Amino acid sequence: MPLKPPYGPVGEAGPDTTAGSWAAFARAFRDPVQALPPPWADLFAPLRTGAVDDLVVIGQIGQSLDGRIATETGHSHYINGPAGIEHLHRLRALVDAVVVGVGTAIADDPQLTVRRCEGPHPARVVLDPKGRLAGSAKIFAADGVRRLVVTAADTRCAPPAGVEIVALPLEGGHIAPHDVLASLAERGLRRILIEGGADTVSRFLAAGCLDRLHVMVAPIILGSGRASFILPPVERADQALRVPMRTFRLDGETLFDCDLSAQRVPVGRAKIST
Ligand SMILES: NC(=O)c1ccc[n+]([C@@H]2O[C@H](COP(=O)([O-])OP(=O)(O)OC[C@H]3O[C@@H](n4cnc5c(N)ncnc54)[C@H](OP(=O)(O)O)[C@@H]3O)[C@@H](O)[C@H]2O)c1
Repeated sequence: MPLKPPYGPVGEAGPDTTAGSWAAFARAFRDPVQALPPPWADLFAPLRTGAVDDLVVIGQIGQSLDGRIATETGHSHYINGPAGIEHLHRLRALVDAVVVGVGTAIADDPQLTVRRCEGPHPARVVLDPKGRLAGSAKIFAADGVRRLVVTAADTRCAPPAGVEIVALPLEGGHIAPHDVLASLAERGLRRILIEGGADTVSRFLAAGCLDRLHVMVAPIILGSGRASFILPPVERADQALRVPMRTFRLDGETLFDCDLSAQRVPVGRAKIST
């Protein structure tokens, strides 16, 4: 696959002539003894090894300049342009599992496969405590990829054959993100992408269950619609969550790579580490 416009620091323009092949990078990424080739290493190296424990958990949000992930009707295709979408596929290609909330699974019926770059498809995980997702959802498609539904312990969940059911207790009406990660780790899933939507990513963020957060900002203003993050209210601006971050430019969009490792709660070890 030819290399697409490279990731450059904000303010720099023009192609990066040191660019290597993505396929080679994706292979090296999973081999702990191999050095990571440029130009991808700078951005993706932090996703290779856990800073706090064996897991690496990445949240991603694609949003407008005014911090919206979708219109009021829930329409979000496509807030981000081709480069932003390709970045999402690169993230999928590097992780063991991609997690979405059932709201996204119903609204978008996403495939969650890797199509815009080379790399293996991750396992697909839907958080569906009430068992609302129809068996015909693309996430459940029997395409040889591992599929899991995380549901509440007392929910009678009947997904299609071959879909693994992970039943977890509710705490205050929700499943603790820590428990989700621990269950995935037990099943050998170590690098995990929390792909959306806002409710799901916000819960992992609030619970200290993200190592990194990739916020892809598109140069559009929606002016209304769904906010990217919903967190417990703070009284003053200086009480806001402030995190170390780097920026990268992808064509006309800007990626904010936030390092949340300082607030990440430990989860444990995955059974299989690759
Ligand atoms: N721009 C982007 O990057 C992006 C990415 C993905 C999605 N989206 C958009 O986001 C919208 C959907 O987002 P959303 O925030 O409404 O929904 P969501 O995060 O996709 O799903 C939320 C639902 O998932 C379940 N859930 C998630 N975490 C849970 C937990 N810890 N414990 C228990 N249940 C949990 C709950 O289901 P129950 O309601 O059944 O309890 C919850 O209401 C869509 O419009 C979609 O197009 C945008």
